[in-house]
Amino acid sequence: MLKTNTHSLTKDLVGNKLQCISCHLKGSDDKPGTASGIGTFVDTATAFPAYSKREKTVQTLQNRINNCFMRSMDGKRPIVDTEASIAMATYITWLSTGKTINLNEKRPCGPSNSERWAKNIKKFTKIQKKAKHTNYTNGKKLFTQKCISCHGVQGQGIASFPPLWGKDKTNHSLSYNTGAGMSKLNKGAAWVQSNMPLYQGDSLSNQEAADIMLYVNAQPRADFDLKKGLQTNNNMGYYNSKVLEEKHSVRSNFKALGLDIDKIRGDKKIK
Ligand code: HEC
Ligand code: HEC
Repeated sequence: MLKTNTHSLTKDLVGNKLQCISCHLKGSDDKPGTASGIGTFVDTATAFPAYSKREKTVQTLQNRINNCFMRSMDGKRPIVDTEASIAMATYITWLSTGKTINLNEKRPCGPSNSERWAKNIKKFTKIQKKAKHTNYTNGKKLFTQKCISCHGVQGQGIASFPPLWGKDKTNHSLSYNTGAGMSKLNKGAAWVQSNMPLYQGDSLSNQEAADIMLYVNAQPRADFDLKKGLQTNNNMGYYNSKVLEEKHSVRSNFKALGLDIDKIRGDKKIK
């Protein structure tokens, strides 16, 4: 979780420069996923196995973890029951030691996240649906004030502070792709409001978080094509999903909220 893109068991499966802890933050005990903001792992295991609308199947905790590799990590899915998959599921399960089983029929999320996601996604959808170019420029201004000291002007990341978008010199994506939860305007805003700026979670207003992630998620990042992913991923074992086709781009993520990316950005430079 701490060194996902350099650890020998997972480095070949990660396509970008992120670690699990880039989004499942360390708490005061310095352990992955114990911070209390949205995305915490403190009671995640109590909810699994859990139904997922995205895959239209009941997902085990290993399924859930491994799918993040194709999206948030822009890489390849580990095989269920191999060492890395078991290790990560074991760690997350251990965090729930002593907690009551709390299976989730609605979404594959632990009790500390489930309703928080639902409530905040609804809130940000309402705000972001009305977005105009001025919200984009406001997002850019706020990003410059509150985020570039750690994430860089180009969103490229600085030292151990992770990248938010863009590519490296070898054309590899630096951050999450357009199939990741974070790339959805409303989910991204919910996460950022709860967790960023680092150690100052819950400091951004609704409009600020909405506009900042309108700006961040309008920047270039890798497209997601599940079908292609499954082809290049053909030794990943059984894939527990009834949905085998799914495509996303920056453009389609905006369209999902009824927004035209060209109008929002005020230009036509982006795919
Ligand atoms: C770019 C940010 C990002 C990264 C990196 C990331 N995740 Fe996630 N993860 C999310 C978001 C956002 C959600 C919830 C939203 C969703 O369902 O898409 C989530 C949900 C989860 C959940 C469900 C937790 C719960 O209780 O709701 C698990 C388990 C999980 N991720 C595991 C991992 C593991 C393991 C890694 C590293 C291999 C990882 N994630 C990397 C963003 C990320
Ligand atoms: C003081 C430094 C700091 C500031 C300021 C900051 N971040 Fe972060 N951010 C981090 C760190 C560090 C992580 C990853 C957590 C870790 O490695 O422990 C992170 C993770 C993220 C992630 C998920 C991982 C990724 O790279 O995609 C997003 C999205 C993000 N920050 C957005 C923002 C936004 C938007 C702002 C401004 C409102 C902001 N951050 C301000 C340090 C910072």
